Amino acid sequence: MIQENISLKTFNTFGIDVKARFFSSFSSLTGLEELLTSYSATPFFVLGGGSNILFTKDVNALVLKNEIMGIDLMHEDEEYVYVKAGAGENWHQFVLHCINNNWGGIENLSLIPGNVGASPIQNIGAYGVELQDAFHCLEAFYIAEKRMVTFTLSDCEFGYRNSVFKKKYKDQFIILSVILKLRKRPSFHIDYGSVKQELERMNVKELSLRSISQAVINIRNSKLPDPKQLGNAGSFFKNPVIPAAEFEKIRGKFPDMPFYRAPYDMVKIPAGWLIEHSGPDEATKSWKGFRRGDAGCYLKQALVLVNYGGATGQEIFQLSEDILKSVKSKYGILLEREVNIA
Ligand code: EPU
Repeated sequence: MIQENISLKTFNTFGIDVKARFFSSFSSLTGLEELLTSYSATPFFVLGGGSNILFTKDVNALVLKNEIMGIDLMHEDEEYVYVKAGAGENWHQFVLHCINNNWGGIENLSLIPGNVGASPIQNIGAYGVELQDAFHCLEAFYIAEKRMVTFTLSDCEFGYRNSVFKKKYKDQFIILSVILKLRKRPSFHIDYGSVKQELERMNVKELSLRSISQAVINIRNSKLPDPKQLGNAGSFFKNPVIPAAEFEKIRGKFPDMPFYRAPYDMVKIPAGWLIEHSGPDEATKSWKGFRRGDAGCYLKQALVLVNYGGATGQEIFQLSEDILKSVKSKYGILLEREVNIA
């Protein structure tokens, strides 16, 4: 069924109230093909969980909501299980399903909002693990040629919050399922940030997929706003990665700036710190906690922009512009948005 002029407010975690000219969902390849054929003259726009998008205007297109479901164990060997998940599955529910089956590899990615189909697009990552670490392949519909294509790990050209689907193949494929390679005997990753500390606080004696997942959930809940309560799309910007030599010059002026060494003689700087330590307010000199109308910079994590209820996408976008300019003029570093702007 195709609906007309419907609000997308409940279909994006920022809670932005824009309208879709047409709207329909599909739960199979055949369903998708039928929609594309009967609406071939209309531009379309594929929506997953709506958790990494900022709508700044009405969508004058057919919005297609991907609802392809199903989790299947495809194959297993001594060490691994190969598990296929439909693009419309909720990511966190999928993570919990894997933990319940004792399949290891994505427990550090617990509680990331959104659907399975979006996870490869930006190579979701958290607490020392990225999707690419457990990725086997994916199946996608090639719109121009109306056929299915399989992408292997190397085909996806994963990078930090990046893949071919954000670059050369942007808007050319519709991801229908993702196949992960998960460990039967898990290897735990607890060295990132405060994971170990949280496990200690929880008094965990023996590590398990479940305890790590719970530690990650606890940390995320303490720092990141729940989109059901406060509209947001997680980190709004990427952490900038700059050449070490450039970083040394900047550090000369700002010795307290935190950083992490990255491959190829690069340095990654937490954008949250840059945003927290620049800002419009004479008193606080910070964007953290800043609010203009219903658009704001989250009080507990400056990297997250929030909608207090009635903000428009334009207002959130303008705030992000102002933050970009302010960080650029103070530190000479140009932040890049992580969230897709539509
Ligand atoms: N920091 C501040 N002020 C802030 C926020 C952060 O100074 O307001 C500094 C601190 O030095 C802190 C450091 O930034 O130690 C790192 O902060 P945090 O651990 O919260 O992580 P992040 O680098 O801000 C990244 C991801 C998150 C992911 C966490 C944990 C990006 C763009 N974001 O954030 O991913 O959950 O690490 O792995 O890489 C997302 O992509 O939507 C997302 C939430």
